[in-house]
Amino acid sequence: MKVDVLLGLQWGDEGKGKVVDVLTPGYDVVSRFQGGPNAGHTLEFEGQKYVLRSIPSGIFQGGKINIIGNGVVLDPALFKKEVEELEKSGHDLTSRLFISKKAHLILPTHRLLDAAYESAKGDAKIGTTGKGIGPTYTDKISRNGLRVGDLLSNFEEKYQKAIARHKEILSHYDFSYDLSSIEKEWMEGVEKLKQYTFIDSEHVLNALLADGKSVLAEGAQGTMLDVDFGSYPFVTSSNTICAGACTGLGIAPRQIGEVYGIFKAYCTRVGAGPFPTELFDETGKLMCQLGHEYGSVTGRERRCGWIDLVALKYAVMINGVTKLIMMKSDVLDDFDTIKACVAYNINGEETDEFPFDLTEGNIEPVYVEMSGWKTKMTQMKNENEFPEEFNAYLDFLEDYLEIPIKIVSVGPDREQTIVRYRDFE
Ligand code: GDP
Ligand code: IMO
Ligand code: MG
Repeated sequence: MKVDVLLGLQWGDEGKGKVVDVLTPGYDVVSRFQGGPNAGHTLEFEGQKYVLRSIPSGIFQGGKINIIGNGVVLDPALFKKEVEELEKSGHDLTSRLFISKKAHLILPTHRLLDAAYESAKGDAKIGTTGKGIGPTYTDKISRNGLRVGDLLSNFEEKYQKAIARHKEILSHYDFSYDLSSIEKEWMEGVEKLKQYTFIDSEHVLNALLADGKSVLAEGAQGTMLDVDFGSYPFVTSSNTICAGACTGLGIAPRQIGEVYGIFKAYCTRVGAGPFPTELFDETGKLMCQLGHEYGSVTGRERRCGWIDLVALKYAVMINGVTKLIMMKSDVLDDFDTIKACVAYNINGEETDEFPFDLTEGNIEPVYVEMSGWKTKMTQMKNENEFPEEFNAYLDFLEDYLEIPIKIVSVGPDREQTIVRYRDFE
């Protein structure tokens, strides 16, 4: 069987968690392939709301196998909190959540380094989630990292060596900290983590595939935050794109099946960095209010703007998207007109090609304006109920992106998800 990949096409928070949960009944295994607790994936069903950070979003659908892959970075202290929240609401995960021995550990000092680097950057700061993501991936690439499998042998010595190195780096920054309290929490987290089975996930996943089992690979963040292809340097530190599923799970490119690319009917971004279609007016404020655009991890207000098809087409290309999923359609219900950016005007020259650096030159979005649907979408049950203007918006996006939109989300609940069966010409 193949591995289908579901990933974000914008700057994160597209609604990946919700859709992974909806699609999980069709798979045997769900696996996260990159990122860490910088992610916040929200799921709503049966009147309950859950936010997952490191745990795959397939955890609520029956006895499916859920795997935290080698490409993920894991903070034991936050993992413990996340697991305990789920335990409180009656979800015991030990029999269906497995963790790659090769996943890297976020040490307490990685969080401190994240904060020290950010404050040293001053105005140029990235606006990270402060979870130690960058420093942990830096240690991985510079071959200084500690992995989950290291917890099983001689860990204390490896840990002390890493902490000493980090303390030395921190001494060069004007940054005060108290390691002892976060270290205690972290060690308690390690004990919790050890209650789970650590696996050689690349072997396990390939054996499951050979045995005819199907896998859904869950991405975190979004293509515009990818370390290679996103709005560098205002990105995260991992490959959030489809290729990241191969390196983050140990599966071969030929095993990739469908690539589900997920996007909001508009666009948001949290943290610093360029965002060509950002709105600073009442329309932007309204999108934020109606979409409840506040970060699920940091609570920060998300910046809002119209859909950016230049960036989206680039993301479709980089990922080889085969099916599109449009989220949060209902957020635009009240707008008289809806805009879509179809090109950038950069210093007087129009282009639909995503440029090398979004901060270079003066980028003016070129918009096409369409009629809004002015209809409440949240109660809709199937595509036959869609208003004409909404169908026109979908057609316009499909024409531009040349990929069918197969799922439309009309509300945060699991049930508010509509599969489209119409043929795509
Ligand atoms: P993720 O990080 O990609 O999983 O997305 P987040 O969970 O961070 O952000 C998506 C937010 O939108 C969450 O609060 C979801 O509950 C919510 N959401 C998802 N789909 C819809 C939708 O179709 N309509 C509305 N109004 N909210 C949605
Ligand atoms: P999900 O999976 C939105 C952003 C941060 C910051 C930049 C780098 O929920 O979509 P980091 O802590 O990763 O070093 O921060 O990336 N960022 C996200 N924005 N959704 C996310 O995850 C994000 N994860 C990181 O705000 O701008
Ligand atoms: Mg999120």
